Amino acid sequence: MDNLGALESLLKSNMNKYAKKKVCEKCKGTGFIIREDNSVDYCDCILSSKDSLLKAMNIPKRYWKIADSMDAFYTEDQDGSYTNAYIAVLDYVNKFKENEGRGLIFMGPPGVGKTYLSIFSLLYLEEKYKIRGLFYDVRSLILDLKSLIGKDRHLNSSSYEKLLTKVLKAPILVLDDLGSEILTDYNKDILTYIIASRYNDMAPIIITTNFNLLQYDIRPEQVGLSSSPSNKKQRSEIQISSKNMFEKNGPEQGKVFSYDDLPNSLKSDLVLRLGESIASRLGETCDFIYMFGEDRRINKSKKTKES
Ligand SMILES: Nc1ncnc2c1ncn2[C@@H]1O[C@H](COP(=O)(O)OP(=O)(O)OP(=O)(O)O)[C@@H](O)[C@H]1O
Ligand SMILES: [Mg+2]
Ligand SMILES: [Zn+2]
Repeated sequence: MDNLGALESLLKSNMNKYAKKKVCEKCKGTGFIIREDNSVDYCDCILSSKDSLLKAMNIPKRYWKIADSMDAFYTEDQDGSYTNAYIAVLDYVNKFKENEGRGLIFMGPPGVGKTYLSIFSLLYLEEKYKIRGLFYDVRSLILDLKSLIGKDRHLNSSSYEKLLTKVLKAPILVLDDLGSEILTDYNKDILTYIIASRYNDMAPIIITTNFNLLQYDIRPEQVGLSSSPSNKKQRSEIQISSKNMFEKNGPEQGKVFSYDDLPNSLKSDLVLRLGESIASRLGETCDFIYMFGEDRRINKSKKTKES
C-alpha cells in the first residue's frame, strides 16, 4: 500500500470511530430505548451527568435546585399542610413498590408548592430506586403533541409517536397543572387517551391541580396540623422530618384523602374540568393531598422588595 492509500484508510477508520462516537448505537441518538416488552427507559448516553438526567426527565430549570439538596422540607409552613404533604410524599416513595400503580394528586391554590413537591417526588424515586420518570406541564404536552402531528410520517416511528410512547410508558409521569381551565373536547380526548392507557397498564401518575379548597369548605384543620399552639409544637417536632431523619426513624404518615372523601361540590367541579372518564380513573387510582396557604411567589417578591 502506498503512503496515500495508508493515509486514506487511516482517515476512514478514524471517521468511522468518530461517527460511532457521535450517534449512540443503542438509542440511535434519540436518548431513550423502547424495550421488547414496550417499556421505555433513558439510554445510558444521556444519563452521564445530573444536568442531562434533569433534562431527560423534562424538569423545568427553575426547579433544578431541588436536586442539589434533595430535601424539600420548608420551615415557614403556615398551617402545616405543606409539611403534611411532604410527609405524604416521603411515605409514597417509600411504599412505591408495594402500591402498584397508585398515584398522587396535589390540590391547592397557586404558589403553595404543588409543582415543587411533584418534582421532589420524581427525583426521590430516581435517587432511591433509579426509576426515571417524566415531568410534563399539561399545556406544553398538548402543544408539543399538536406540533408534531403529521411530521416525519414516512419514518418507522414518527416524532409524534415517540413523544406519545414516552408519555404512555414512563415508569412514573407527572402531569403538572391539570385542568386549570375547562378542557376543550379535543384536549380532553388526548388526555383521556393518555390517562386511560396508563390506567390500563397500572402505570402511576402524579397530578398537580389548582383548587382553592376553602371554597369547598375544606380547611387546614382537616390535615391535622392547624395553627393552634400545640400544633405549632407538633410542627417544630416534625421539623426533624427531613428526608434523612425519615429514612432513619421509619414510617410516618401524611394525611391523604380518597375520592370518596371529597365533598360533592368538589367532585362535580373535577368532572366539569376534566370530564367523567378522567375524573373517575384518577379518583380510583390516586390519593388526594390538600394544600393551603399563601402564594409563596408573592411572599418571595415582597421579601426581596423589603430587603
Ligand atoms: N420546600 C420548598 N423550599 C423552597 N422553596 C419552595 C419550596 N416549595 C415551594 N417553593 C417555592 O415556592 C414557589 C411556589 O412553588 P410551586 O411552583 O411549587 O407552587 P404551585 O403550588 O405549583 O403553584 P401553581 O399552582 O401556581 O403552579 C416556587 O418559587 C418554589 O420554588
Ligand atoms: Mg405549579
Ligand atoms: Zn444512547
